[in-house]
Amino acid sequence: MTDAFIATLPKAELHVHLEGTLEPELLFALAARNRVELPWPDVDQARAAYTFTGLEHFLPLLFRSAAVLRGGRDFYDLTHAYLTRAALDGVRRAEMFLGVQTFLDAGVPIADQLDSVLSAISDARADLGVDGALIITCQRHRSQADAREVLDLIEPWRERILGIGLGAAERGNPPAKFAGYYEDARARGYRTTIHAGEDGPAEYVREALDVCRPDRIDHGVAAAADPALLARLRDEAVPLTVCPLSNVALRVVPSMAEHPLRTMLEAGLLVTVNSDDPPYFGGYVNDNYAAVRHHLGLDRTALADLARNSFHASFDDPRHIATHL
Ligand code: ADE
Ligand code: ZN
Repeated sequence: MTDAFIATLPKAELHVHLEGTLEPELLFALAARNRVELPWPDVDQARAAYTFTGLEHFLPLLFRSAAVLRGGRDFYDLTHAYLTRAALDGVRRAEMFLGVQTFLDAGVPIADQLDSVLSAISDARADLGVDGALIITCQRHRSQADAREVLDLIEPWRERILGIGLGAAERGNPPAKFAGYYEDARARGYRTTIHAGEDGPAEYVREALDVCRPDRIDHGVAAAADPALLARLRDEAVPLTVCPLSNVALRVVPSMAEHPLRTMLEAGLLVTVNSDDPPYFGGYVNDNYAAVRHHLGLDRTALADLARNSFHASFDDPRHIATHL
C-alpha cells in the first residue's frame, strides 16, 4: 500500500512507454472496437499472462497487445487514460515514450498517432493540470536507417515533440549502432535519451555516453557494479530513469531487496524512479516509490530527493544541462 507521504509528493514521470500503459480493460475494449483477436479469453487471463522471464520474453507480448491500437481515437484514449491515472499519483510532469514503428508496421499513419497523442496531452494540461510531453522512441533491433527514416517522418511535428529515444531488445544491439541517429536528432534540436544498461552490460552505458551523448540514460542499472562508471555519471550529471518494478519483473535484478537504487543514490547520481510499462510490471509510479521505500528502507528524505531529482532531470528544467555535452 502506498503511504500518504509518497501519494502527496509532486513528481515527474520520465520513463513510461505509452503503448506499455494499456490496461487489460482498455486492451479488450480496443480489441472489440477494432475486431482484433487476442490470445486470452478475458481480462483476468491476460493479467495472469504478465509474468516474464526477461526483456526478450516481454517485448513480443507488448507488441502483440499494442496491435489493438489502430485509429487516432485509440491513441487519444490510451494517452488520456495514462495521464488520468498518473495525475492520481501526484504526477505533474510526464515525458512519455511512443514507439511509432510498431504502429507504422501495422499501417497506422504517423499523423493518426501523433495528432491524437498530442491532442490528449493538450486536453490533460487543461483538464488535469498534468504537463505532458512526447518522446518518440525507435527500436534497436531494427536498423539505424529505419530510425533515421522516423526522424524524417516526424519532422512536421518537430516543434511539438520533446525528444527522441531508443528502446526494445538491448543485448546484441549496442548504442554505437545508432550513433548517426543521435547525431541527426541533436542537429534537429531534439533532447535525447537512450535505454542502456537494462539487461545489457555496463559497457553499453559507457558506449552510449561516448558515442550517442544522450541527455539522459533510461535504466542504467548495470552501471551500479562499475565504480568508475558511477563516478563518471555523477561527475557528468547524467540523469538515470530507473524503473524498479520493471527491473524485478524482467529479472534484471534478482529481487527488490537487491535493487541497486540505494547504491546509485549514495554514489550521488541524479537518479529518478519511474514505471516503464505499469500494468505489465505491477504498478504505477507511486507503487515503485512504495516498493523501494519498503524493500530498500528509504526514508522520507531519500524519497523526497527522488521526487526532486525527477524535476531536475526533466527536460523542462533549465538547470538540467548535462556537463558532458
Ligand atoms: N519498451 C517498453 N518497455 C521497455 C523496456 N523495459 N526496455 C526496452 N524497451 C522497452
Ligand atoms: Zn523503458
